[in-house]
Formats: sequence, structure tokens, C-alpha cells
Amino acid sequence: MKGKVLVTGGAGYIGSHTCVELINEGYEPVIVDNFSNSERFVIDRIREITGVKCSLIEGDCTNQNFLESNLKSLDLVGCIHFAASKAVGESSKLPLKYYHNNIASTVAILAVLEKINCPNFVFSSSCTVYGQPDILPVTENSSIKPAESPYGRTKQMCEDIIRDCYNAGQGIKAFALRYFNPIGAHPSALIGELPLGTPNNLVPFITQTAIGKRAELTVFGNDYNTPDGTCIRDYIHVVDLAKAHVKAIKKLIVSNESVFDVINLGTGHGNSVLEVIESFEKVNGIRLNYKIGPRRNGDVEKVYADCSYAKDTLNWKTELSLEEALKDAWNWEKTL
Ligand code: UD1
Repeated sequence: MKGKVLVTGGAGYIGSHTCVELINEGYEPVIVDNFSNSERFVIDRIREITGVKCSLIEGDCTNQNFLESNLKSLDLVGCIHFAASKAVGESSKLPLKYYHNNIASTVAILAVLEKINCPNFVFSSSCTVYGQPDILPVTENSSIKPAESPYGRTKQMCEDIIRDCYNAGQGIKAFALRYFNPIGAHPSALIGELPLGTPNNLVPFITQTAIGKRAELTVFGNDYNTPDGTCIRDYIHVVDLAKAHVKAIKKLIVSNESVFDVINLGTGHGNSVLEVIESFEKVNGIRLNYKIGPRRNGDVEKVYADCSYAKDTLNWKTELSLEEALKDAWNWEKTL
């Protein structure tokens, strides 16, 4: 084993896939999770996929004393911090929940990592920090727009907090990974996304409609300035995304220099909502019940990543297609 990596929120959607890829690369993930938006069975599923049982520390990442007492004897080589609340709409209704969970946990973890001399830190950020970009594709130098929601603001603030720690010269080594739209599930169909209640995101809504949990999908607007009138996003397979995290933490572990950098993680091309629907229908041989509805408030027209920096810095690019992601998402839905 190459060392223990703390994975906060390791039972969650991206966290669980990252634990699998860490194990595949010889690391030992140690999960901290309070199961506020994840299920315990995920820990067993990671073992089913990899044959390795992850250590689990159950509790809340906003509690610095809890973190310190549990982590100080672990001899961690790094930390990947996913634990956060992530529902954009909810964040406007419950802003303090988001500021508390997302900011307090990041501050507590950074403080504990400093105390236990573990400088290697990968942060789960989002392309939401760019808002509606002026120029496409979006590079890491694109301007950061005022956030559209408290959720988005917490991602911007956490990036600033990490940058301040770097500027303070205490030796932190950190990457903030800005994800575009993560979709899909593990090809084993043993782990995947588990949305609470009605999904807000497109792909879980598609799979739930296809299985009959939802009567119909509404496409939010077809009068955008795009080839078919529907919004364009950069959909990235969650397994590709998970592999990028492993490359990121590995790079920090082997490097001797303090660093803070932000890296876009996407495929580099955009697909419209209608293209995603057509592709889902084609690859899975299903007809989807959908209608065109009005625009959704706050949606940006098009956004997709320039991923050349991820290629240069991490030697990473996506390997899986939109079709594979939609096939895996459907196979996962069928097991639920
Ligand atoms: C959202 C979040 C973003 C987060 C990302 C992945 C916002 C503003 N942003 O991005 O911070 O990182 O999810 O979790 O919410 N659509 C439909 N019908 C539906 C659902 C979605 O047409 O029922 C369309 C949307 O209008 C959009 C596209 O599908 O054009 C993707 O939507 P969604 O999956 O919610 O992701 P984003 O809004 O891009």
C-alpha cells in the first residue's frame, strides 16, 4: 500500500468512485462520512468492487476536535475533501446550512491537516464558479463571476481559503478541481448517484423517468442561442473524474514544493440537453417521455471546459464517452 488517504464524504457519489480508484492505484482510503446524504451500503459495495474494506470514521467534518482525535494517529499521506452540501436550490433557502457545512468543514480539515503535518489536499470545486462564461471553452484563467447561489459562493470561498493558506507560506500543497457535469455510475452498477427526493440534475431525472418513477422529463427551454435551442454542458463520466482525483493527490504526494492550483475537469466538448436525451434513447434502446418546457431560472446557456491544463498538469484526460456514461447510469438505475 502506498499510504492512507483521507476521503471526506467518501460514501457519496464522487467520493465512493474515488475510493475505488484509490484502491486500484494501491492507496488505502480512510472514509469520514456522517451519512447525511449517502448510504452505509456504499462501503460494502466498494469492498465488493475492489476486494478491500475501507476504514470508516463516522462523524461530522465541521467538528475539529472529532477530526483531530481520529486522524492524529493515522499517518495520512493526503486528503481529498468532498464532504459538503450540494443542492443549488436548497442553498438559496437554507444559506446558513451551506455556509456551515461547506465552509466550517473546510476550515476544520485544513486546521487539522496542518497540525498533523499532512500538507497534501485536493478540494472538490465546481465550474459553477465561472457563471456564464464570456469565452468558450472555459480555461482556468476565465473570470470568476459573482456566484448565482450560496452553494456556488461556498465553492468560491473555499478556494479563497485554501489560496490564503498557501499564501501564508505554511507549506500546503493543494489542488482545487473544478468539475463540469459529473454523470454516470460505476460499470459494475454497484455504486452510483443516489439523489434525495426529486432529482434536480438532468441524468438522474432521465433515468428515473425511463424507469417510471417520474411521469415525464421537462426540457428547460429550447429557445437558447444553441444549434438545437437547448442548453449545452460538458458531461463527464464519474469514473474519469475519480481517476483525476487519484492523479491529483499522487502528484501532490510526490512533489516537494508548496503549491495551490485550480484545474478544470471536463471532456472538452459540450452536448445539448436534446443530444443527451437522444443518446440515452439510442444506447439503451428506450423511448423517453419528455416535453419542452420553459427555461429554468439561473441556467447558463452553454458551458464546456478547456481541459488542456489537466492534461499538462496531471497527465489526465477523459477516456469514457457520453454513451458509456448514459449506459452505466441506466444500469445503475435498474438496480435501485
Ligand atoms: C448543476 C449545478 C452545478 C453542479 C452541477 C452538477 C446549477 C445552476 N448548477 O449544473 O453547480 O456542479 O449541477 O451537479 O444548478 N435540465 C432539463 N431538465 C431537467 C434537469 C435539467 O432540461 O429536469 C437541463 C438544465 O436546464 C441544464 C442541463 O439539463 O441545461 C443540465 O442541468 P443539471 O444536470 O441540473 O446541471 P447544471 O445546471 O449544469
